[in-house]
Amino acid sequence: MGSNSSHSVTPTINLASVSSFIQPMKVTKCIIDDEPMFKDLILLLALGSKTTNELNITTSSVLRMATHPFDPNFTDKVINAMGPMTPPRLRQLMTGLIRHVHDFARENELTVDEWMAGVGLLNWAGQMSDDKRNEGQLLWNVIGLESLVDEITFTLAGEAHDAPAATAIWGPFFRADTLWRRNGEDIVKTKPADGKMAFMHGQVLDFVSKRPLVGATVEVWQASTNGLYEQQDPEQEEFNLRGKFKTDEEGRYSFYCLRPTPYPLIQLMDRHPFRPAHIHIIATHDGYRSLTTQIFDRKDKNVDSDCVFTVKNSLVVDFVPRTGDPQAGLELHYDIKLVCDATDGA
Ligand SMILES: [Fe+2]
Repeated sequence: MGSNSSHSVTPTINLASVSSFIQPMKVTKCIIDDEPMFKDLILLLALGSKTTNELNITTSSVLRMATHPFDPNFTDKVINAMGPMTPPRLRQLMTGLIRHVHDFARENELTVDEWMAGVGLLNWAGQMSDDKRNEGQLLWNVIGLESLVDEITFTLAGEAHDAPAATAIWGPFFRADTLWRRNGEDIVKTKPADGKMAFMHGQVLDFVSKRPLVGATVEVWQASTNGLYEQQDPEQEEFNLRGKFKTDEEGRYSFYCLRPTPYPLIQLMDRHPFRPAHIHIIATHDGYRSLTTQIFDRKDKNVDSDCVFTVKNSLVVDFVPRTGDPQAGLELHYDIKLVCDATDGA
């Protein structure tokens, strides 16, 4: 890789390293903590870049990047190995990925053992995955990437991130082959002894006009009280706790389900591993932007510390007592609002 093994005793500024550090961040304003010798250099490097971000740079971080002992040309060599037929968007993404991953390795002086531990984790996730579960997606969930991409996607589309039609990640337990069910049907096909039955109902509405949307699809899925989705648990009937519904002439949907239960994911980084109790929803209708979201039980103690960083205030709901219904002691009314494709030009 062209690196050498000794650190410089006297700091020398490596322009290529500092440049690669600064330019991807599109610096507008540099705040240097206490070292004037770098101020002019950094402002010079930042000159001409598009001004969207402010960056705090400490002398130590500049020194570390400027004086590292590794081959300053290696990253560019890898990036420039891409062939001329590489699609522009792929080139942009891979250039950024390679640059950030290489900087990550250099900044942290990543060891072979640490890197192999990461490879092992990816391999484990791949080996656990099949056509019914997606553990690779889970790894990105726990470091917040799916939630961040969700925020980027819908913020750029012009939708307020915490609007009533707020979005949330798919998670790894979606199944594309979920069965159609009738409105009012019970999706709890395998009844857990400790389950609390709830009747969930509402309308699918146009986000702006509040007009009911007839024939919209509402797809839901949830874990059982043991914290497992049906594809993880041989004791549950296939397609237990999931279903697809069509809204009626008044845009209404309804079904019986369980009050959701929290469940643990992989425990990493000395964090608690729990997802707060939730129900997954995908709502679609012709001419409207599909909504993928989750709703969260306010009573869950981890509702403010979701291990995959998905909870938004408008997605927190209240199950209330239901009377006169032998099938359920709880009820949840939840209207789903969809944004027309033509509303915001997204
Ligand atoms: Fe989930």
